[in-house]
Amino acid sequence: MQKTILITGADRGLGYDLTEQFLKKGYRVFAGQYMLDWPELKDLQQQHKNLLDLVPLDVSSDDSVTSAVAYVKSKTDALDILLNNAGISGGRDNSLNVFDALDFDWAQHVYNVNAVGPLRVTNGLLPLVMNSDTKLVVNISSEAGSIARSYRKGWFAYCMAKAALNMQSSIVHNNIYPLGGQVLVVHPGFLQSYITGRKNLEAKTPTDVAANQIIGIIEDKEIYRGDGPTFIDHEGERWPW
Ligand SMILES: NC(=O)c1ccc[n+]([C@@H]2O[C@H](COP(=O)([O-])OP(=O)(O)OC[C@H]3O[C@@H](n4cnc5c(N)ncnc54)[C@H](OP(=O)(O)O)[C@@H]3O)[C@@H](O)[C@H]2O)c1
Repeated sequence: MQKTILITGADRGLGYDLTEQFLKKGYRVFAGQYMLDWPELKDLQQQHKNLLDLVPLDVSSDDSVTSAVAYVKSKTDALDILLNNAGISGGRDNSLNVFDALDFDWAQHVYNVNAVGPLRVTNGLLPLVMNSDTKLVVNISSEAGSIARSYRKGWFAYCMAKAALNMQSSIVHNNIYPLGGQVLVVHPGFLQSYITGRKNLEAKTPTDVAANQIIGIIEDKEIYRGDGPTFIDHEGERWPW
């Protein structure tokens, strides 16, 4: 049977490469489109007209998520994988420490996108996920969300939001594990993506390489299935919470 997936933040960076690679595997992909003017997803749709649905989706907005959920529900009654990828950097906050004047409005925005956003989408789409054979939620987190390996003196907004994402992943997993579901929490590596506003070629890992590694982890998901969710990086190393 054909597998289905929804990927948030699919316009560019890791989300785009995940979209392209799941399409090549024959998945029907619902790609969350946030940057309506960015051309790559539209070009991809020309090549995969029957498999790729572009869904306007701003994970920080209740209205946008409600509309996207209604659209997906009008197209399918099951979603094998929900892949919460959309995220933003802490921006200027990353260079500030606790003695600086911190911007709490910005911190709340980062929290809304990176922590509440995935929960908003999961909350809307979980009935479809639980209707599928696979029943998998994948949350793209970060090493920055690991409290056990915390070392930074700044990055308040991003680190706190990713730690909160990790906690919500655990609570969602507690809900769905007894029903045959599973949550994977993935640190994708230091990516050559656009998260700083321009393509960061100084970073270690090309996004197509990370996407391929993450798909491998998803395909091995049964290895990681257990009472709690798994926090793992793109190379397969398990991370402490
Ligand atoms: N890059 C890294 O080294 C790294 C490391 C660890 C974890 N991650 C995580 O990996 C994931 C993918 O990031 P990436 O590095 O591929 O970044 P990216 O290239 O910036 O891609 C993220 C995409 O999500 C979009 N987005 C921003 N706000 C959104 C919203 N409210 N709703 C829906 N989409 C939104 C972005 O649009 P804009 O470009 O307009 O913001 C962009 O198209 C994120 O969760 C990130 O935190 C990245």
